[in-house]
Amino acid sequence: MASLTEYLALVAVAFLAPQLYRFINFIWLYFLRPCTVHEYLHTSPSYALITGASDGIGKALAQELYDRGFSLILHGRNEEKMRKVCDQIRRQGSRNVHYFIADASAEGHDFAKMMEPFKDLHITLVVHNVGSSELRWEKTDGLSEEYLLDIVRRNALFPMLLTRVLLPKLRAAAKSGPVLVQFIGSQAGDISPPRLGLYAGSKSFLKALARSLDTDELVWETPSGVRFEYLLVGQVQSNSMQISTSIGTPSSERFAKAIVARMGCGWRKYAPYMPHAVMQWSMEAMGENVVDMFTAQAIGELTKKLEKKA
Ligand SMILES: NC(=O)c1ccc[n+]([C@@H]2O[C@H](COP(=O)([O-])OP(=O)(O)OC[C@H]3O[C@@H](n4cnc5c(N)ncnc54)[C@H](OP(=O)(O)O)[C@@H]3O)[C@@H](O)[C@H]2O)c1
Repeated sequence: MASLTEYLALVAVAFLAPQLYRFINFIWLYFLRPCTVHEYLHTSPSYALITGASDGIGKALAQELYDRGFSLILHGRNEEKMRKVCDQIRRQGSRNVHYFIADASAEGHDFAKMMEPFKDLHITLVVHNVGSSELRWEKTDGLSEEYLLDIVRRNALFPMLLTRVLLPKLRAAAKSGPVLVQFIGSQAGDISPPRLGLYAGSKSFLKALARSLDTDELVWETPSGVRFEYLLVGQVQSNSMQISTSIGTPSSERFAKAIVARMGCGWRKYAPYMPHAVMQWSMEAMGENVVDMFTAQAIGELTKKLEKKA
């Protein structure tokens, strides 16, 4: 019969094995894995479609992917601002940079018509980056129904319905090589901070959607070659997050490089920026009550800070 020490050793191994596995994956993803973004350049030209690309992370990602050899289809809501971004990128090379304009918070879009001008283009990367939520003091019942619906449309429904019309095209493109769809998520989706319930819920929706759509493309028929990823994002300096950069808060440009470096790593949910992964890990270790206390304090301070800047 096994001794008590043997039982304890077995329990220790059972607890430690998943952490060790996670640690090995961590080292692989952030320090050893070579960048594979070139695998999405399987036809010339290969296009990356990025939503919310007129500023912040989306704009930086557009620049980074253009530098890596992609032609671009960019989305924004302000035509003048979008055109300036496209012109700036076009000046650096000869590849195509197209754009389309749509307010992601609005209802009633005809997504098929929106994508019609791009129907013959070989899209191999889609980054659903559009999204945001203001930090406000009001609780849910102090906000209008329309305001709440705007948050859900912008963060969850727009990417979902755009994906729906793109899917047949993406499957066709995947006949010549891998195709990837990324949803830019948020750590808020995992920790549901106070006053950000709808934003957090919308990001959680994207997380569930990415996992299900990924499995959809893998099972019951020959895998289509279209894969889905949900990215965990902590604080990033951007137009809507005008705070100083630090190790935990990269600039949009630095963050875009991290996204490209990890793209297509084979995980369906991960933090592309290493310090955000460490934060995620420590939050999981701390437990919900402690995290909620810290988050409430941090969100309160951030709301005051952004309020002063506005
Ligand atoms: N920055 C962070 O700390 C952070 C943290 C977690 C997650 N994220 C996620 O990262 C993504 C990008 O955020 P960001 O910080 O880069 O934001 P940002 O600097 O404000 O840029 C957002 C982009 O989306 C566009 N956009 C916003 N609302 C839109 C709408 N209703 N219709 C069409 N376009 C719209 C903006 O257009 P305009 O140029 O016209 O404003 C801009 O191009 C979002 O999904 C956000 O939830 C960011």
